Amino acid sequence: MTRKIRLGAFLPGGGQHIAAWRHPDQPTDGATSLPFHIQLAKEAERGLFDAYFLADGLAIAFGGGIEGGNAKVAGFEPVTLFAALAGHTQNLGFIATASTTYEEPYNLARKFASLDLISGGRAGWNVVTTATESAAHNYNLDQQHPHAHRYARAAEHVDVVKKLWDSFEDDAFIRNRETGVFFDANKVHYTNHKGDHFKVKGPLNVSRSQQGHPVIVQAGQSEDGRGLAAATAEVIFTAHQRLDTAQEFYRDIKARARGFGRNPDHILVMPGVAPFVGRTEEEAREKYDRLTSLILEEDGIALLNGLTGGTLDLTGYDLDGPLPPAPPTEGMKSRQVLIRQIADQNNFTIRQLYQWVATARGHFTVVGTAAQIVDTLEEWFQNEAADGFNILPPVLPTGLTDFVDLIVPELQRRGLFRTQYEGKTLRENLGMPFPQNRFALARAAAQAAE
Ligand SMILES: Cc1cc2nc3c(=O)[nH]c(=O)nc-3n(C[C@H](O)[C@H](O)[C@H](O)COP(=O)(O)O)c2cc1C
Repeated sequence: MTRKIRLGAFLPGGGQHIAAWRHPDQPTDGATSLPFHIQLAKEAERGLFDAYFLADGLAIAFGGGIEGGNAKVAGFEPVTLFAALAGHTQNLGFIATASTTYEEPYNLARKFASLDLISGGRAGWNVVTTATESAAHNYNLDQQHPHAHRYARAAEHVDVVKKLWDSFEDDAFIRNRETGVFFDANKVHYTNHKGDHFKVKGPLNVSRSQQGHPVIVQAGQSEDGRGLAAATAEVIFTAHQRLDTAQEFYRDIKARARGFGRNPDHILVMPGVAPFVGRTEEEAREKYDRLTSLILEEDGIALLNGLTGGTLDLTGYDLDGPLPPAPPTEGMKSRQVLIRQIADQNNFTIRQLYQWVATARGHFTVVGTAAQIVDTLEEWFQNEAADGFNILPPVLPTGLTDFVDLIVPELQRRGLFRTQYEGKTLRENLGMPFPQNRFALARAAAQAAE
């Protein structure tokens, strides 16, 4: 089958752009409205997106500012919301974010395995280490763990969760009313994990889904982030402004995956893209300028304070002056570097910088007609920079509807995107292999050796 672009729909109900809620198209209560999220899920499925993706931060406003203008102060816990949305869709996947730093593996494995069963095998887990001080303050800490510690714990956490997801073999359940045998006890396995960070006996008390287990997603970009992603992730979300840095990341991840003995086709790299699309270039530009005009200075400053790693407070700086240097961070290391690069490469003032990253926080922002935007997506897809894209519509629902009505048909016309879903589960639609149960594999190998 020819290689096709994969699409994630990154749709927080409050919209992506920091001033989206002030736009007449956006319902002001979108962030906490279940009916609105149901509408968004159905629209993403009409556009044949692979998955609905939601980020998650374990603090108010994701660690950003709590000035009165921030519509992202409150929302839903993603797995809970997706369990409600799954019943309103048939094919759309649901990739929820959860933290390896602040969640125990057994709890996390249970809730994602449950979402995977509820959705008929359409769940994915975006593995994050949660890189903000404000989150640490909600979990018994005065300051967050160092970056390296968070990633070491994350590697073990993912390992334990995957072991727990193998507790029941796919054919463990017999459910024979006559004999009274409900399951084959030989096909249920203890985890017995003892490591530096976790001690977990198992088995998990939730069984496997139609897709075996949820798809593993990751979004780190630092050295540790790339290492964890290449060893464990099946999908990687990433933030890039330029083709060459996206190519460097793509080629590095694929090479590292080969180094782990993995098939590089089974690890999809999906940069984030915020499209301002119009029927004409002028119309697209107007959409960008309209939203930009709605940004309050204090919200722009709060956004940059977060994105530059939380070590810099820009309050009181000349907004029409340059971005000052930021002290090193134990937070999102790669994002701090990326924001610095954007400021320097475009010679942006502080104001111009927060206006440019107001939608996508460092992900690629593109303004133009459908043909122009698809030209860029095709260039990245055909030149080893992307296997797909995580789409960040600036304002909702119209930013998503524009994408579905204008860009999806252009992608299909060029043969770059599906015209119908390939399968029922997220793995089938992503072209991912079914993860064989390690205990079943071991038994088959032992029998083959007899
Ligand atoms: C598309 C995307 C989504 C992300 N979602 C979250 C999130 O929901 N919660 C979170 O704490 N971090 C999130 N991150 C941040 C990453 O998990 C990671 O902290 C960041 O990319 C920095 O990685 P590094 O420390 O390896 O440089 C996201 C990053 C990207 C690129």
